[in-house]
Amino acid sequence: NKRVKIKELLSQEPQEQEVTVMGWVRTFRNNQFIALNDGSTNNNLQVVLELGKFDEETLKRITTSASLKITGTVIPSLGKGQKLEVKASTLEILGDSDAEKYPLQPKKHSLEFLREIAHLRFRTNTFGSVFRLRHALAFAVHKFYNEKGFVYLHTPIVTASDAEGAGEMFRVTTLPFDNPPRNEDGTVNFKEDFFGRSSNLTVSGQLEGELGATAFGEIYTFGPTFRAENSNTARHLAEFWMIEPEMAFCDLEDNMNLAEEFIKYIIRYAMENNREDLEFLAQRLADEEKQLPQDKRSELGLIEKLEFVLNNDFERITYTEAIDILLQSPAYKKKKFQYDVKWGIDMQSEHERYLVEKHFKKPVIVTNYPAAIKAFYMRQDDGCEPGKETVAAMDILAPGIGEIVGGSQREERMDKLMKRMEEMHVPAEELWWYLDTRRFGTVPHAGFGLGFERMVQFVTGMGNIRDVIAFPRTPKNCEF
Ligand code: 4AD
Ligand code: MG
Repeated sequence: NKRVKIKELLSQEPQEQEVTVMGWVRTFRNNQFIALNDGSTNNNLQVVLELGKFDEETLKRITTSASLKITGTVIPSLGKGQKLEVKASTLEILGDSDAEKYPLQPKKHSLEFLREIAHLRFRTNTFGSVFRLRHALAFAVHKFYNEKGFVYLHTPIVTASDAEGAGEMFRVTTLPFDNPPRNEDGTVNFKEDFFGRSSNLTVSGQLEGELGATAFGEIYTFGPTFRAENSNTARHLAEFWMIEPEMAFCDLEDNMNLAEEFIKYIIRYAMENNREDLEFLAQRLADEEKQLPQDKRSELGLIEKLEFVLNNDFERITYTEAIDILLQSPAYKKKKFQYDVKWGIDMQSEHERYLVEKHFKKPVIVTNYPAAIKAFYMRQDDGCEPGKETVAAMDILAPGIGEIVGGSQREERMDKLMKRMEEMHVPAEELWWYLDTRRFGTVPHAGFGLGFERMVQFVTGMGNIRDVIAFPRTPKNCEF
């Protein structure tokens, strides 16, 4: 008898047939009713044991989280909510579980508690839904770019370059722990770490992506990236996944259009293919919000929020316009912002949230940021007032999240790029390979990076980024 998955079984009409199911016990009531879950859906399959058919010894071993193989007959269910159940004819215990020691009890646990037992939290409904959705979104990413003819480029994890020039890198080392090479003053000589070369974990695949785009036309990356920033927020991870498309023959406007289309596409995919999990999380969020005072609750439920995003254009404003809006805002006038607002600042999350959540109430694309606060590779805008130089950058800000995308048109003009690198102390000799794209048939090109976990947060409504990645890497958190 071939195993059938519970999701598939529950979607069928209850016609009499023999089936085999396998899964973990969620609950066992009255020595008779097993709620069995196999991870394919949050809906448990009810398995009915005929009284007297199974011996006491077996019944005792049916505990929460024990794993079972059950063969039985499909029968229509009298209970509400499900059409069918399985009447067991044979039952095999694959793995026992000591219910006393099992950390997950059949009750609601806090997300904080579940984070401490992240190795088991997949077995809860909330994390079941979150990670099935994460999977669907990842699949939709590939589907989107594949349909558009982009080449999926695998950029390196270990690299010598600091793509963002922000110096937030984890170093890679092959140093022998016992006897590392030392400088004259006795300190460890980290210069010779990666087989005699200095290297780090990548912060972004963009620079390598540009090499691909200037050959294939359009590429994207989708892989883990690393930032050694010591930030303990609900939006930052030390290891996160990023999707970075890079397009030749593309300007800032094309870049914005692609990013908006992309975000809408993957949301739509999740809405159409993972409705059940989305509805579960929407209900979860609604229940959570009921605990909040009226004025702290969201106006829209999770699904309405996603529908709204699909049905409306993102707002597009320049950085200069954004600063003006902030300066005119009641929040600024009443001194509600913790950080000052003036042209030239790197907007803080309170500013970004004001723009998206209070002012526009929808995703906003902010363009043309001051050159001084952005990376060296961004295309310099022509005709700027001295002291007010801007670049063709774009950030997408999402309600409840803040920055979800960062991107730009790239500086394709060699002379301007070299000058900028010098000003920003980016060593041209180390990036000789990157500069070759400008030497040999340079083209206007652009790209962006979407933070995948922030995107998953947006779709699932999960408030903390640690709850949308299976094994979150944050300061001091790397056990498993
Ligand atoms: O704005 P960032 O730093 O841009 C880049 O890395 C560019 N090279 C992208 C490109 O143009 N190809 O990062 C891009 C996005 C951010 O908007 C954010 O969503 C996410 O990556 N991100 C993080 N997500 C989680 N934890 C962190 N520490 C993150 N840092 C950035
Ligand atoms: Mg950014």
